[in-house]
Amino acid sequence: MFVVLVALVFGFADSPAPSNAAVPMLRKNIKSLNSTELQGLRDAVAAMKALPASDPCSWTFQANIHNTQCNHSVPYWLPWHRMYLYYFERILVSKSGGKLKGLPYWGYDNSAETTFPTSFYPTTYGASIPNPLYHTPRTNVTSPAFSLNFASTDPGPANSNLSFSGFSGSLQGAPHNYVHVAINGTMVTFQSPLDPIFWTHHCVIDRLWEKWLALGGGRANPTFDTAWMNQTFSFHDIDAGCKLVSKRVQDVLNPLAQLNYQYVEPIIFIPPQKWWRWFELLPPIKFRIPKDLPFGYVPIPLPVEIDPQDLKNLLTALSRTRNPINTVLRFHVLSGRSLPAPIDVFGVNLLGLRTKLATLAVFGIRSQLSGAHVGEHSNTYELTLAPGASRRFLDFIRNGKANLAFVPDMKGIRIQPNLQPLIMRLESVSVMENAPVDKTGKRLAQ
Ligand code: C2O
Repeated sequence: MFVVLVALVFGFADSPAPSNAAVPMLRKNIKSLNSTELQGLRDAVAAMKALPASDPCSWTFQANIHNTQCNHSVPYWLPWHRMYLYYFERILVSKSGGKLKGLPYWGYDNSAETTFPTSFYPTTYGASIPNPLYHTPRTNVTSPAFSLNFASTDPGPANSNLSFSGFSGSLQGAPHNYVHVAINGTMVTFQSPLDPIFWTHHCVIDRLWEKWLALGGGRANPTFDTAWMNQTFSFHDIDAGCKLVSKRVQDVLNPLAQLNYQYVEPIIFIPPQKWWRWFELLPPIKFRIPKDLPFGYVPIPLPVEIDPQDLKNLLTALSRTRNPINTVLRFHVLSGRSLPAPIDVFGVNLLGLRTKLATLAVFGIRSQLSGAHVGEHSNTYELTLAPGASRRFLDFIRNGKANLAFVPDMKGIRIQPNLQPLIMRLESVSVMENAPVDKTGKRLAQ
């Protein structure tokens, strides 16, 4: 019934359901797995861990795919991770002895479910059997009571974006990067998929992408962007003898029809009538005299300033639009690989009152000396502010100066005594206008 409904709403004329008509994978909330399914999950993870690292279906090989190939650039990180999960899920389910129906997700986007999933914490289960879902190090998860801070897992700010770029950038910052940093340990490295919690984390991220589309109002995938639609990535397919197969981004935009999986609560789509797209409002603005900032456990107050001519250009450009804006703060990473704690970014007014703008959570920075991964893994980190926060930031900087404060969110954080801070410089800000476009991506008159 649901399939028919989705097919009617979407009109799948050009994306037929998979011919093998296999039963769709069913992705459930981790807390609603029954005991058979949970055992299937444990068995499957244990089976994958038992395979030699050279086997593409092994736990280690799958994590290495992330380490060497993962794409965290703003346009591609959502489709890349969707494909990654899709191929992983089929291995997982096939190793579960028929007990598991699909990859489960951790529903931390609900304020009542921010506590670490109970089945992933204890070192053993049943009659002292080692728990395959346990992992160490998870620096901050030192008891089953560990919980995330809903202030940074609330998908509200990301959902307020109308353009895919704004949504993708905001969601990557929080909850995505926030969750990696809050758990810490293996989760702040590109080996993070070694920790079984990674997969339940990315499963909810994938679901949030679906839920964002269902909010409507012109929220839509950038199907007008042919480079995006045609971008190809390769993975090992268990059903093709574990050989490398490729998919284009356009092949993974409709989970049920194209990939044969669905979330257990149906997500109803509204076909888009219009699209929103990012346009650079003016060239990036450099901050004057950027300083090297040691991001660790200590708050950092940061006065920022822009040139009078840049300010004039900014105010003129802003006066020409009433569209939603995203501001993107650009940091240059000088040393370190990840943040020891997530950081709340505030604007501070003249009276000293703080307004939260975003969560800064940087992880998985590649070696600054190796040129091998420059590009999406370069030493530039971009923080996308959601539209409301972007407006607040622009209000702060209206006279050319603003006071920012970077305050570590120490909720649940265990201090690691000899940890090096992450040294970064706040270099510039880009101001992006979200404007309505037609289905070819052409800007509509307003
Ligand atoms: Cu490719 Cu959440 O990481």
